[in-house]
Amino acid sequence: MEQKTILITGATDGIGKITAKSLAAQGHIIIVHGRSRQKAEAVCQEIKSETGNDKVDYVLADLLSMADIKRMVADFKSRYYHLDVLINNAGAFFNKQREITKEGFEKTMALNLFAPFLLMQLLTEVLAKSPSARIINMYSAMHKRGGKPDFNDFQLVNSYKPARAYGLSKLYLVWITRHMASELQQRGITNITVNGTHPGAVATNFGQDADKGFFINLVFKVALRFMPRPEAGAISSIYLATSPEVEGISGQFYDSKAKVEKPDDKYWSVQNEQKVWDYLQRTLEPYL
Ligand SMILES: NC(=O)c1ccc[n+]([C@@H]2O[C@H](COP(=O)([O-])OP(=O)(O)OC[C@H]3O[C@@H](n4cnc5c(N)ncnc54)[C@H](OP(=O)(O)O)[C@@H]3O)[C@@H](O)[C@H]2O)c1
Repeated sequence: MEQKTILITGATDGIGKITAKSLAAQGHIIIVHGRSRQKAEAVCQEIKSETGNDKVDYVLADLLSMADIKRMVADFKSRYYHLDVLINNAGAFFNKQREITKEGFEKTMALNLFAPFLLMQLLTEVLAKSPSARIINMYSAMHKRGGKPDFNDFQLVNSYKPARAYGLSKLYLVWITRHMASELQQRGITNITVNGTHPGAVATNFGQDADKGFFINLVFKVALRFMPRPEAGAISSIYLATSPEVEGISGQFYDSKAKVEKPDDKYWSVQNEQKVWDYLQRTLEPYL
């Protein structure tokens, strides 16, 4: 298989780490994204020793900070000429109280939606230098559970609940993935595809550290014992990153077994998709 340069966000744990290890075992050049230098270095060492592949490097950024993402991309571009695969894997479920980042953004939206949007935009230039590039965004079945979108309250000042924030952030991610696919087409960039997948519920650290309230904390802890191993959650992203079967396919939603699925379109319309896209363009303009 042709060697690809692959950047995976949130590759220091859970599904991202398994994806990184598996793609390293296939011989690709892997760039682990982490937020802690110590953890990123340890994961790179682990991947190198377990796979025998030395071409494992890391970049650092707190994805809650758009300025830090911009700095990380500049760092990446100073070291790499092109990128073949971007896997926007990092994501989280936050506390029962609404919290904002230093830049003033609601945390769930910042990490699960703003960060992948910004990375897609800022890395388009290096992805376009690949003969055939792929972007993979990590969804969740919870995209169906965010409730009715309020386009006057994207950052949930008036109706914050952690599950609503998480569900809507993933729903909007599905929409902007499709939108990005058509934007690229319209701009005549035909060598980058963009798809997404949900990994299914698997046993990782996901949501374990957040204070979601006594009952939901308990549900998360108990559920962990019955969930499949995290390897099951990495099947689709590994497939989408390298399989020749998806060459040229863009704007699709894949399930956890790498089969095309229809996302929940209850609230989707061309106009609503455009509203989300325009909001992100406007809000993140200072970082683009
Ligand atoms: N697990 C599931 O059942 C499930 C179900 C549906 C969807 N998903 C989605 O799958 C993706 C991966 O989740 P997972 O289960 O592997 O979760 P995880 O075990 O909690 O791993 C999350 C990864 O994201 C990183 N991360 C979190 N916040 C970050 C921040 N502010 N800046 C930079 N990196 C950050 C973590 O870094 P550290 O190592 O530093 O903590 C870690 O590497 C997420 O998008 C999640 O929404 C998971």
